[in-house]
Amino acid sequence: FPRAFRAALRPLPTLAPYEVSWDEGVRVERYAVSARVGTAQILPNLPTPVIGYNGMVPGPTISVERGTRVHLRVRNKLYGVQHPEGLEHSHESGLVLSTHLHGHASLPEFDGYADDRTIPGFCKDYVYENDQPARTIWYHDHATHLTTRNVYSGLAAQYHIRDEVERALLPQGEYDVPLTLSDIMFEADGRARFDDKDHSGLWGDVILVNGQPWPVMNVKRRVYRFRLLNGSISRSYRPYLSTGDAVHMVGTDGGLMPTTQAVTTWRHAPAERYEFLVDFSRYAPGTQVRLMNSSNPKNVDFDHTNKIMAFQVTDDPVDTYDPTWRTIPTTLTGSDVMSLTPSQSVKTRYLQLKKSDVTNVWNINGTTWQDVIASGYTKVLADPALHAVEMWDLHTSSGGWFHPLHVHLVDFQIVSRNGRPPFAYERGPKDVAYVGPDEKVRVLMRFDRAGRYMVHCHNLPHEDHDMMGQFRVGLAAG
Ligand code: C2O
Ligand code: CU
Repeated sequence: FPRAFRAALRPLPTLAPYEVSWDEGVRVERYAVSARVGTAQILPNLPTPVIGYNGMVPGPTISVERGTRVHLRVRNKLYGVQHPEGLEHSHESGLVLSTHLHGHASLPEFDGYADDRTIPGFCKDYVYENDQPARTIWYHDHATHLTTRNVYSGLAAQYHIRDEVERALLPQGEYDVPLTLSDIMFEADGRARFDDKDHSGLWGDVILVNGQPWPVMNVKRRVYRFRLLNGSISRSYRPYLSTGDAVHMVGTDGGLMPTTQAVTTWRHAPAERYEFLVDFSRYAPGTQVRLMNSSNPKNVDFDHTNKIMAFQVTDDPVDTYDPTWRTIPTTLTGSDVMSLTPSQSVKTRYLQLKKSDVTNVWNINGTTWQDVIASGYTKVLADPALHAVEMWDLHTSSGGWFHPLHVHLVDFQIVSRNGRPPFAYERGPKDVAYVGPDEKVRVLMRFDRAGRYMVHCHNLPHEDHDMMGQFRVGLAAG
């Protein structure tokens, strides 16, 4: 069993484009990744077999300037690889894949629609315009009923859109640190153990950050920016610093918040991203500042899941000419979605997130993805008009569960929780809402692309079984 605060934090590798060109003034970058089997070195003496983009876990980060058109070729090299169950959704030659760039307003054909299967030996070219404000997003597998298995095996990676606004305000380069959280449990032979308790969740007893158990990172006495992605299958976190000091939240799923929020802890559900600043100049060299985790309802906790990682403060010299070295900006330029007002909404919809008392299957308004399949992909939960602003009430109503609800295509603003203002840390553009036990979360958004998009719980066993539906923009049946 690995010990906490021993392994060094590994920076996430960045993928280079294999070709750069220009198309009528638009910069075009071409990338390629192969989904294939690899091994990860997590345990001291035992390799762990994984499935990753380029065989790596987490996969390579793609980082592009806003306005760059990206062609991402995803090759499926998973011949002969099968998960023990879920075979009916796989292919005889091996695993099927569908890649979703979570947090990007993709065209429907590039959104990783769950039945858009890429079988072994084939590839798919995804085209992304990256025309949204700077943000931390991620790409991961989304194949029908295989998402939990595929992501747990390692098919997930960060993706960043950068821009001038963010560059003028926040630390860059080595002080801009992407962190991907996940949790895992091992078999005695080093393989990852898969234990999806009746499709309610998959919980690991080892916390990984960038693929290493409870790592330590050396930091200088200055301000750092962290891009924290919760890439766990089911686990939500409630991070806090061991010093009790606040972090300065500057970004949410869809990029910069309107104003910085100082928070001492926050709930962090699967798929949510939070960007925050920590000022290490206030700690003496030699201090170890730990990022800890207090638990949320319904998570399965173990002896060491209360820890995440540690920062070791060094006395390495700090470049005080870098204007971000000790600056915590207070006003950030928020994204458009934060200036929407409820009065612009033309429709209020209600999405009930629960488990059926009859079939025991997770669903949204009584609908499952199986129902969508059975309808020939015509069944929808909502059919907003193109460019319509709508307000959705997301409501968890059974069994004390939480459901991190993800709406594809849009960034939304959280208007309220049970009629009260949203938490300080979620006052920024979001695409996942943590809908806690008996919570009703009201979100406001505009639908700016036509087509069919998915909406689902991001606790992946819930998504796979079968809390996923779709909405259709600009194509209202008539
Ligand atoms: Cu991150 Cu539909 O998913
Ligand atoms: Cu759920």
